[in-house]
Amino acid sequence: MRNKKLVMIPGPTPTVNSIMVQMGRETVSFKDAGFVKDFKELVIDLKDMWQAEECFVLSGTGTMAMEVAVANSVKSGDNVLVVSHGYFGDRFIDIFERRGIKTDVLSAEWGKAIPINQIEAKLKEKHYHAITITHVDTSTGTRSDIARIGEMLKKFPDTLYIVDGVCSTAGERESLKEMGIDILFTASQKAFGVSPGLAIIWAGSKAMERRKNLKTIADSYLDFEKWLPIMHDPMKYYGTPPINLIWALKESVRIIKEEGLEERFERHLKDARAIQKALLGLGFTILADEELRAVTLTNVVYPEGIDDDKFRAILAEEGVVTANGLGAYSGKLFRLGHMGNIDKHTIVSTLAAIERALYRSGVDVQFGKSVGIYQSEIMQ
Ligand SMILES: Cc1ncc(COP(=O)(O)O)c(C=O)c1O
Repeated sequence: MRNKKLVMIPGPTPTVNSIMVQMGRETVSFKDAGFVKDFKELVIDLKDMWQAEECFVLSGTGTMAMEVAVANSVKSGDNVLVVSHGYFGDRFIDIFERRGIKTDVLSAEWGKAIPINQIEAKLKEKHYHAITITHVDTSTGTRSDIARIGEMLKKFPDTLYIVDGVCSTAGERESLKEMGIDILFTASQKAFGVSPGLAIIWAGSKAMERRKNLKTIADSYLDFEKWLPIMHDPMKYYGTPPINLIWALKESVRIIKEEGLEERFERHLKDARAIQKALLGLGFTILADEELRAVTLTNVVYPEGIDDDKFRAILAEEGVVTANGLGAYSGKLFRLGHMGNIDKHTIVSTLAAIERALYRSGVDVQFGKSVGIYQSEIMQ
């Protein structure tokens, strides 16, 4: 009997049935009155829940959302500061440099974070038009203290605060208004638990003002001003909206509202800490420093003697698909996603499969140990 495969990579995450039902609906015209109403309600909900002035739901991936944030905030010759905690922080550098934007970078050792006073000292050196930070860098499993950075940035009101929430939004607490974020973005396939294909970008009033001051920008598809009329009234047209994905995201938002945003953040936190303790109990270590660990994924470092390719192939046979390490950590760790619409059954099955894969890899495993740790942690 073949095991059902649980997709426990850091995105795409498992899609629940009610979301798949929306994906499977017969596609209607984008001028269909029912669809237009659904799209409009979705944008309003997203704006309210993340306390933003505007929200854009576009066809594209997280990388496109990065480009949208950049295209609408800065122009060639501007200065930006990239605070990088890994592979995805670094991705901004290429995006900025291709546009002729002068880019300074603060890079952390993987698994660690740049101290806030170091960011502040850098910002005092010259005027930066924007700063970018990745809330959770998927390559390292570290989370940045975006609320404290937002507080510090009040001293630099002309610097736009851009946060990459691709591996955090809907799993980690985020609010544009409360945290002073100017642009936040994510993609559908992570903690929203929707199939890949949607980029979601929130903007505050300062960001919209900056866009206006840039006048005509070179990009058309990425331009806030092209899409704003559609986000306010989806009966209007600029590019064909991904109808079924929009329905699927609407269902995800319904699930989030039913659970409660705060309750969802608490669930992610409690599950993550329990999973991390369970994995440490099996002899793995975790790349991110303890106080920096994300709640959406864990980067699990192998004990001596485990071959990554073989281990993850066995784990997949046991029913759990995980992702490889990136950069210098390729072969040294696996990345385990635990975000979105996942339940206790999924987590218990995942930990049990990891135990079986360890056993089959020649490790002396006490069966049930990690499941026991997880269960005793979450039942407290
Ligand atoms: C933090 C972060 N930013 C950006 C991206 C890029 O998103 P996408 O793969 O949807 O283009 C990813 C993808 O995993 C990510 O984890």
